[in-house]
Amino acid sequence: MEQALTKTDIKELKRLFSGKVRDVYEVDNNKLLIVATDRISAFDVVFNEGIPEKGKVLTRISNKWFSMVGYRHHIISTEPEKELSFLSSYPELKDRCVLVKRLKRIDIEFVARGYLFGSAYKDYQRSGEVCGIKLPKGLKLAEKLPEPIFTPAIKASSGHDENVNIEKYKEIVGDRGLAEKLMSIILEIYKWAHDLLIEKGIILADTKLEFGLDEEGNYYIIDEMITPDSSRFWSVDTYKPGISPPNFDKQFIRDYLETLDWNKQPPPPPLPKDIIEKTIERYKAIERIILSL
Ligand SMILES: Nc1ncnc2c1ncn2[C@@H]1O[C@H](COP(=O)(O)OP(=O)(O)OP(=O)(O)O)[C@@H](O)[C@H]1O
Ligand SMILES: [Mg+2]
Repeated sequence: MEQALTKTDIKELKRLFSGKVRDVYEVDNNKLLIVATDRISAFDVVFNEGIPEKGKVLTRISNKWFSMVGYRHHIISTEPEKELSFLSSYPELKDRCVLVKRLKRIDIEFVARGYLFGSAYKDYQRSGEVCGIKLPKGLKLAEKLPEPIFTPAIKASSGHDENVNIEKYKEIVGDRGLAEKLMSIILEIYKWAHDLLIEKGIILADTKLEFGLDEEGNYYIIDEMITPDSSRFWSVDTYKPGISPPNFDKQFIRDYLETLDWNKQPPPPPLPKDIIEKTIERYKAIERIILSL
């Protein structure tokens, strides 16, 4: 296994911020360089160990979806070393960087779900609703929903993202017409990707997108697209409602952490080597399937 890359330092560029996974550098007023590291977070806590190669896998998966999707997105170049020649002196960054349009992020996680899992299942158990959407009684964990639903969450600058109802969502976006448009786009993209993957024996249970706006108010998909960090992927063969289905995503790490006596606050527990290895195996398995689409 190669070594995990958990930190970056590009001397030629100014680092604007570091997310849980990505380091974001300023190229100029209109462009950013985004580097996907091997960092991994769960329950909003970043682990000390990285998952070797994860950033490359996420970058390749996102680039594939961006190239297929029929909507405007932030990618300017998937080979930024052509434009930024100094990147050749950072071989560890190869296959992890994209040059993107610098946009104003809408502080919402645009989540579409076709199946009941995660925070949606918790909300449903408590209230029978998710983001103000009433669901039929008696649904089991991981059960298929009658219709895919849009479950927006506010992006918290620190702490956990919070699910909100559609009215609150529209207030945050501000422009109600835009809010309705983006809501229909995320649902359409979810259904499109779900139908492509089901042909390959994979269930896309849910996915999250982010959008940004340019100065004219045009919307773009930003950040990442339909990766195992931002989505849930299950196998058609082993799927069964009522249990946490075997998966090709971060749920594997979460399921492991639930076996520990850890309060989900920093500091994080160490990640054992075999958990790290099994995680990257799963990420690579879903990568192979997505790249074959
Ligand atoms: N084209 C873009 N223009 C502006 N910001 C972007 C663009 N693409 C991605 N971003 C932002 O860059 C950051 C990428 O880092 P990362 O994915 O690690 O964040 P994160 O841990 O998910 O945290 P956050 O809650 O801030 O999104 C995110 O904050 C994302 O919203
Ligand atoms: Mg992110």
